[in-house]
Amino acid sequence: MNSTQVQLEQLQSVRDSQPTWTDTHARTHDYLRISVTDRCNLRCRYCMPEEGLEWLAREEILSFEETTRLAGLFYDRGVRKIRFTGGEPTLRRDLPTLVRMVHERCPEVKLHMTTNALRLAELAVPLRSAGLAGLNISLDTLDRATFREMARRDRFDHTWAGIEAAYELGYRPIKLNCVVMRGLNDDGAPAFVELTRDREFDVRFLEYMPYGQQNQLQPEYVSGDETRRTIETAGYRLEPLPWDGGPARPFQVPGHVGRVGFITAVSHHFCGACNRLRLTADGYFVNCLYGPKLADLKPILRGGGSDLELTASIQAELDRKWAAHPDLTVGEIEVLGTMSQIGG
Ligand code: 5AD
Ligand code: SF4
Repeated sequence: MNSTQVQLEQLQSVRDSQPTWTDTHARTHDYLRISVTDRCNLRCRYCMPEEGLEWLAREEILSFEETTRLAGLFYDRGVRKIRFTGGEPTLRRDLPTLVRMVHERCPEVKLHMTTNALRLAELAVPLRSAGLAGLNISLDTLDRATFREMARRDRFDHTWAGIEAAYELGYRPIKLNCVVMRGLNDDGAPAFVELTRDREFDVRFLEYMPYGQQNQLQPEYVSGDETRRTIETAGYRLEPLPWDGGPARPFQVPGHVGRVGFITAVSHHFCGACNRLRLTADGYFVNCLYGPKLADLKPILRGGGSDLELTASIQAELDRKWAAHPDLTVGEIEVLGTMSQIGG
């Protein structure tokens, strides 16, 4: 054996003996969501207020080196899927470079991104060659006027062009995430299902979650069951597919190539199977979307702290993760920021 092989073997045995990111409820976490900016070029009603949000200052945001170092520590204890989120991640300057750095540090990780697709026409190629594998695209409607109403910007055509570019380039799966809001886009679900007839899109209908300034269930909330009925009433038969227990319950219309899913975070929370860890753009480790923002890793990163200190600090916060977030259907919930600040 040459020395590289010996080193690799040693690395492997260290890894085998290493602990995983496990919490006190015996959940193992192998999925990290990294928010790379809190800014966005849309103002979706369910996510951001029209105005008045304060953006993070540039020096508060982690550098590429800092983010990659943290991603590496998560990787060393078993993270195998990383999703870049925002705000809108493509607004982060030079994002492909970050993707490449994380890809090189974490070679076994599947890299994904959640995006509104506005900048995908230009970025789909460089992101792909940097190592990005999959895309979740936020798209709430196929109707231009409804888009303008929901996202408060008239950008449907740009969004669609971005989606086409990614599809042509061969990103698969492409998941289209549609947050259903009563009186806005709740009649649009059948059109999304039609889209799956001859395109390999994975359309997912999301329940509108109370978050940010909307700290209780909103009148626009529509349950996944109701959306399913809307689709079936329009004449589509939804056949259940094998379900891996993840957030989206998968279906397919017989004969269609794409798929349809329902993410019912409000009516049926999936905390019991939670495998998610979150890193905010300003370097906080957050153990739950509804959890507190306590573990500031930046002082350790910038104060010359060791990898061990960072790992210990993350694990200590993971140990505080609750078994489930409070019921989102009753009363007021405590929320720490907007989705765009935490990264969804
Ligand atoms: N409820 C449900 N999903 C939300 N997202 C943002 N805010 C909410 C909310 N209040 C999700 C949407 C969007 C992605 C960026 O975050 O899926 O597409
Ligand atoms: Fe921007 Fe996405 Fe929030 Fe819409 S949902 S405002 S696209 S971050």
